[in-house]
Amino acid sequence: MHAAGHTGPCHCAKVMFSMLLDKFEPMSRVQAELAALGIKPFGAVTEQLLSATEGVVEGRRVILAGTNNYLGLSFDPRCIAAAQAAAARWGTGTTGSRMANGTFAEHLALEAELADLYRVPHAMVFTTGYAATQGLCATLAGPGDVILLDADSHASIYGGAQLSGAEVIRFKHSDPADLEKRLRRLGERVANTLIVVEGIYSMLGDTAPMREIAALKQEYGGLLLVDEAHSLGVLGDQGEGAAVAAGVGAAVDFFVGTFSKSLGATGGFCASPHAELEAIRFSTRAYIFTASASPSVVASTRAALAIMRTEPGCAHASGTTPGNSTTGSRRWAFGSARTRARWSPSPSRIATRPSPGGANCWKPASM
Ligand SMILES: Cc1ncc(COP(=O)(O)O)c(C=O)c1O
Repeated sequence: MHAAGHTGPCHCAKVMFSMLLDKFEPMSRVQAELAALGIKPFGAVTEQLLSATEGVVEGRRVILAGTNNYLGLSFDPRCIAAAQAAAARWGTGTTGSRMANGTFAEHLALEAELADLYRVPHAMVFTTGYAATQGLCATLAGPGDVILLDADSHASIYGGAQLSGAEVIRFKHSDPADLEKRLRRLGERVANTLIVVEGIYSMLGDTAPMREIAALKQEYGGLLLVDEAHSLGVLGDQGEGAAVAAGVGAAVDFFVGTFSKSLGATGGFCASPHAELEAIRFSTRAYIFTASASPSVVASTRAALAIMRTEPGCAHASGTTPGNSTTGSRRWAFGSARTRARWSPSPSRIATRPSPGGANCWKPASM
């Protein structure tokens, strides 16, 4: 009997002369050791969601400390209604890439709204946040160029940098002095350099020193890409992210982000003041050679974006902390300044009610 429940003959390939799979042996051993300890890194299955921050896992009611649902919008009735209406009107998928049949009016409307959010003329919508960051990094720089990135960057940044063929130089995490040292060393090559930072770091949950980074970019040159994946909806008057919140949005060449965290959907974007973004659209493999985001996802994202922009109170409503799950859990456990101020961990009392800043944002009942 196969795992999927099939009873027919096994189609398991017998590997005779390949060593390609040998490298997975150490990882298989680690997995077996973890399994023996009852640890299943991919095994936390959410059986039921009770709110944006609470669910049922293995029959137990737990706090979802690792969720990125910062605004709790994945259950907002307005987002759900928008998704339902779009699915009914446009169907469940676009079945094609943006360059072929996959550009629907909804995609263009979302791009216009993102451009408006950042007060820039150009924006692109990607199918995932990973594709946006990886695609931009891989396309903007090439052999002979330099990507100067924060050492604690997300895998999508490293992945894109590697694909680009550019020289990749890391500077110490959130350390403007180290960034400056490396910019100085680059000399004239700065003209061919892409500086990449995150607004709030996915690995650590800390905010980038945007003012200092922007000042260095202005002084030395190069282009600046800010991945606002975790800061979108969390920082800035309208949730624009760390750069705009720090008052240095004008120094940013490429705002990149995801719809999978604060906006409760999936997908990604790039917004830019540069007209060349339209040429980049034609040059980014992760944009061209993949199916475009499904209509329901785009529609719920548009609804969430509108809520994020007009109901700033949502930004502190869900009780989740930006950063990856491990960090999120750790910060939740010890209590960051904001978490301590806004959240008291009493799982049995978690419920939903409208936040002061906007209707239907999830929040603990005790707040
Ligand atoms: C900084 C950063 N960029 C990009 C991504 C990828 O976004 P998505 O998961 O929506 O593809 C993530 C996801 O965690 C991230 O933290």
